[in-house]
Amino acid sequence: MTDVQLKIFLDIATEAALAAGAVLQAYWGNLEEVQEKGRPGDLVTEADKAAEKAILEVLRRHVPDHGILAEESGALGDTTGTYLWAIDPLDGTTNYAHQYPFSSASVGLLIDGVPSVGAIFDPFHNELFRAGKGLGATRNRRPIQVSQTPLLSKSLLVSGFAYDRRETTDNNYAEFCHLTHLTQGVRRSGSASLDLAHVACGRLDGYWERGLSPWDVAAGVVLVEEAGGRVTAYDGSPFQIRSGRILATNGQIHAELSKELLQVPSLTSWGDAVPSRNH
Ligand code: IPD
Ligand code: CA
Ligand code: CA
Repeated sequence: MTDVQLKIFLDIATEAALAAGAVLQAYWGNLEEVQEKGRPGDLVTEADKAAEKAILEVLRRHVPDHGILAEESGALGDTTGTYLWAIDPLDGTTNYAHQYPFSSASVGLLIDGVPSVGAIFDPFHNELFRAGKGLGATRNRRPIQVSQTPLLSKSLLVSGFAYDRRETTDNNYAEFCHLTHLTQGVRRSGSASLDLAHVACGRLDGYWERGLSPWDVAAGVVLVEEAGGRVTAYDGSPFQIRSGRILATNGQIHAELSKELLQVPSLTSWGDAVPSRNH
């Protein structure tokens, strides 16, 4: 894959993310339909569907033979080929439905299974995050880098809770409490793609989450890696996009955060036995 070809795909991803962003702006405050998709709290609105339609129109015009994995439409075309677009037309639907202005449109391209191109547009802050493998990462077309925070105890992290959280004890609650004690704070923003974009531009030092889908993270992974960060599984082994789990950091706190995620005390022991942050 040449840089020229990759840049063309990055421009297509950008066009698609901006088209979806325009739809999200148009529907903002005017939602007539908010439905639950199955699990309690897993919402879909007409804005999700219209934004996805806008992305699909762009992809079908430019790359009609590529496979697509779209949150609302599922698998489209040949999803076993070299090129697979993973798209989330509205990442942060719960925020959006409540008129809490923190969500984005996220468009990622996997090439032979590897996240290689990503464009994430935040229509509320007018921020466009872009990255291509080997091309670097930008925010509004200016280069970005991960933070230089050297220690977990000095870090600001972000995480989230998947929609199956009521059905499993592996719901990230214990991890969230544990890391809240060990750091300067853990945020829960409600938009995985923006969490990754904010790690990439150094506003946050690290992010972990479970229960994710490829469209939540495909674009953001490229951003963090191209901004100089590190993306792996919780245990530091290579990141697998279909595993649902991700650990993404500025690189410097990676080993520390990985270690803590692998030895989280159960919630019942939380209280007296809180871990010390004196290190
Ligand atoms: C959700 C958001 C959230 C994350 C959830 C995702 P959606 O995506 O990214 O931050 O915690 O796991 O499902 O439903 O708003 O597209
Ligand atoms: Ca999502
Ligand atoms: Ca979504």
